[in-house]
Amino acid sequence: MAKKTIRNIDVSNTRVLVRVDFNVPLDEQGNITDDTRIRAALPTLDYLLERGASLVIMSHLGRPKGQVVESLRMGPVAGRLSQLLGTPVIKMDEVVGDEVQKASDALKPGQVLLLENLRFDPRETSNDRLFAAALARLADIYVDDAFGAAHREHASVVGVAKLLPAVAGLLLEKEVLYLQGLLRDPERPFVAVLGGSKISDKLKVIDKFQNLVDILLIGGGMIFTIMKADGVSIGKSLVEERLLSEVGRIMAESGGKRATMMLPDDIVVADEFKPEAASKVVGAESIPEDWMGLDIGPETIGRYSQLIASAKTIFWNGPMGVFEWDNFEHGTQAIAKAIAANQGIKVAGGGDTIAAIKKYGLEDRFSHISTGGGASMELLEGKELPGVAVLPDAEF
Ligand code: 3PG
Repeated sequence: MAKKTIRNIDVSNTRVLVRVDFNVPLDEQGNITDDTRIRAALPTLDYLLERGASLVIMSHLGRPKGQVVESLRMGPVAGRLSQLLGTPVIKMDEVVGDEVQKASDALKPGQVLLLENLRFDPRETSNDRLFAAALARLADIYVDDAFGAAHREHASVVGVAKLLPAVAGLLLEKEVLYLQGLLRDPERPFVAVLGGSKISDKLKVIDKFQNLVDILLIGGGMIFTIMKADGVSIGKSLVEERLLSEVGRIMAESGGKRATMMLPDDIVVADEFKPEAASKVVGAESIPEDWMGLDIGPETIGRYSQLIASAKTIFWNGPMGVFEWDNFEHGTQAIAKAIAANQGIKVAGGGDTIAAIKKYGLEDRFSHISTGGGASMELLEGKELPGVAVLPDAEF
């Protein structure tokens, strides 16, 4: 069921409390190294401002665990937001309290206020009722555009949505539309490409996708746990020992499932975990004892690319190898380009995947790139996201 959005309400002359996910990466000097998440909220913020609302914007940044952490203050975010919106942003030094209340009471249409990092207050993550009420007092309407935090049952995501008229923002709407679209009615063939270093992050999605997609292409460091579970020797490659039996069970049951699951035929191995390590291509079942796999090989790239070309829907999460290092980026680069060249629906998600798409300048070639890491995975695992569930359904 579609959710009520900002398009369904009149916001002129109202104060709108907007939950965004401005949890952006910062370097050691506190500079924002990737502002994708701020840019992604602009359609909602611009929409509200153009219609005469004033905005009280709130987000978490990092995991300060209920304490003030100076390096996680929202100052740099306020600066970038102001640049991108082309309007001043009043940055508060507190999350809630008298000063914040006064500032929000004084807002005029078109003005923008940004609260301090929500997670400086321990009551945010415990979904405290009084904290949610203090947030709700700052505005007339609540808009949730923080898809990346929609899997968190926190005060600013769930608590406040129960206290104010609540609607979804345009980013949240788009994320849910594309990701639920994959689950509900994908055009087929539907090919999923899953990679990344840890199988623990992907196990539930692999399980779910086996009954959803037509072809499941697996790459990245997580293949070695699968291969080891299957009795193949993997040399010094990465492995999650504690998951071997669960992975073995999933692989053993994969025969009866809808998806054809594919593993690499060949691997680029290195003699140590370093960018300049010696490397060579070997068959997937011939990894030398003292070597480790760091990328998929050329035969695998060819086979995966052909299957990707035949897809009508593609979902991609996780690099194929250590793409940050020139010698081990070919698999990720080739697969990214193969997906980009496909004319169907192409959805990608996950921090490393987005970094790879940007590295190869392919952002515009995807139908949708999710801003949610954990949130997109949980949605695709079939879980209901608390931040989405709490919003009222649209009326037809
Ligand atoms: C994310 O980066 O995935 C979101 O901002 C959620 O952050 P969290 O995992 O710290 O809740």
